Amino acid sequence: MVREIVVYPDKRLKLISKEVSSFDSELHTLLDDMYETMRSKNGVGLAAIQVGVALRALIINIPLEEKEGEHDQPKENTLEMINPVIVEQDGTEKFQEGCLSIPGVYEDVERAKYVKVEYFDREGKKQTIEDDDFLAIAMQHEIDHLDGKVFIEKLSFLKRKKFEKEWAKKIKEKKI
Ligand code: CO
Repeated sequence: MVREIVVYPDKRLKLISKEVSSFDSELHTLLDDMYETMRSKNGVGLAAIQVGVALRALIINIPLEEKEGEHDQPKENTLEMINPVIVEQDGTEKFQEGCLSIPGVYEDVERAKYVKVEYFDREGKKQTIEDDDFLAIAMQHEIDHLDGKVFIEKLSFLKRKKFEKEWAKKIKEKKI
């Protein structure tokens, strides 16, 4: 089921999400719904808080290719990360990011180039993944959501100010 996406500056985006303790059917439904919700908006990642659930769960699905403006993202390619923790990181990299909670905004953000992340899969099995490419950036972006942070907080003071002004205008004009 496609769920409603929480849009900035909704205060829920500032919540520190809680650790998942039971890997039950409720969690599986949440993850399945998150996949459908992400697909419906052509996103590549989504954290549970973005559908209003303050649990440390996120999904990432990097499209295989883009055809006719639609992402090719088979469900079996979805990386589901529960209680993820970055255990190693190295280097820096600038990448253009966007977020389904801040639709239509794309900005360059600096993050670690390489990360190693420990997490649990939907069955509660511990897993480790490492990457130094787009997936590394996506994992850092989504893990930030679990700690109540959104990518625009990483912008320079002036860029942030400009963003807030334009965003307030869009909301006022009901363009969001
Ligand atoms: Co986001």
